Amino acid sequence: MNLLYYLLLLHLLYTSTAEDPLGDYCNQDTTISGSSQISANIDRLLAELVPKAAQNGFIATSYGKDQNRVYGLAQCRGDVSSKDCSSCIQDAAKQIRQRCPNQADARIWYDYCFLRYNTENFIGEVDTSVGIFYYNVDNVTDPESFKKELGNLMDKIKSQAVVSTNEGLGKGETKISPFVTLYALVQCTRDLPPLSCAQCLAVAVGNFQTICDSRKGCRVLYSSCYVRYELYPFFFPLDSNTTMANIHTSIVKVQP
Ligand SMILES: *[C@@H]1O[C@H](CO)[C@@H](O)[C@H](O)[C@H]1NC(C)=O
Ligand SMILES: *[C@@H]1O[C@H](CO)[C@@H](O)[C@H](O)[C@H]1NC(C)=O
Repeated sequence: MNLLYYLLLLHLLYTSTAEDPLGDYCNQDTTISGSSQISANIDRLLAELVPKAAQNGFIATSYGKDQNRVYGLAQCRGDVSSKDCSSCIQDAAKQIRQRCPNQADARIWYDYCFLRYNTENFIGEVDTSVGIFYYNVDNVTDPESFKKELGNLMDKIKSQAVVSTNEGLGKGETKISPFVTLYALVQCTRDLPPLSCAQCLAVAVGNFQTICDSRKGCRVLYSSCYVRYELYPFFFPLDSNTTMANIHTSIVKVQP
């Protein structure tokens, strides 16, 4: 194969494998120039976040001095493998700079990971100011009993998430009929103390009654927590007979 052609092909493969995020947020009130010290510090910060987040599943740190200091946080969902975590964070770091090239406050959400940075120190603070919502357009057949089962499962996994050894993660499943199983997962960012985690999850789960009322699946993504439920398995470990299903065609995204 011709070398140039090969390089082109590699380039195509490389650029097309980056998955689209579930959402992003570029705070338009925090405009910076591409040649500023802050912008340079964001690049340095990201170079540090990517390997460290992949190592441990979480990193919250800062780079730079005084008014040019940039705070950053990157985290993978606690059930995700380090390989998937690493590729998710790499995509996130690349995409966030493309999507928010001139903002000091930027955030990007995927199913497997989340990344944000800002010149204001946000580490340890609950933030539900920007929310991204996805729901399945199909409704459950028996809303009353479904809501009860969902409520019970959410209570259970929310209490797991605030146990410090669980690092903000709670997940579980419950059979709601002989043939239907409900799966749910919650994840707080690991910089939050338990009370703040509980606070974020309460706000997130509150959307189940409103935006996601009786839907067969729902995802709420905030800067401090992620919650999701589905009638199919979507988190790890999957049992050996199950494949990860994802019914993208029937998912609706609610713009922030
Ligand atoms: C589900 O319920 C909502 C609200 O009642 C309704 O607007 C929507 O059309 C229903 N979805 C389907 C697929 O029937
Ligand atoms: C997978 O399917 C096989 C055959 O149907 C069954 O015997 C086994 O228990 C299943 N494994 C799990 C983890 O459900």
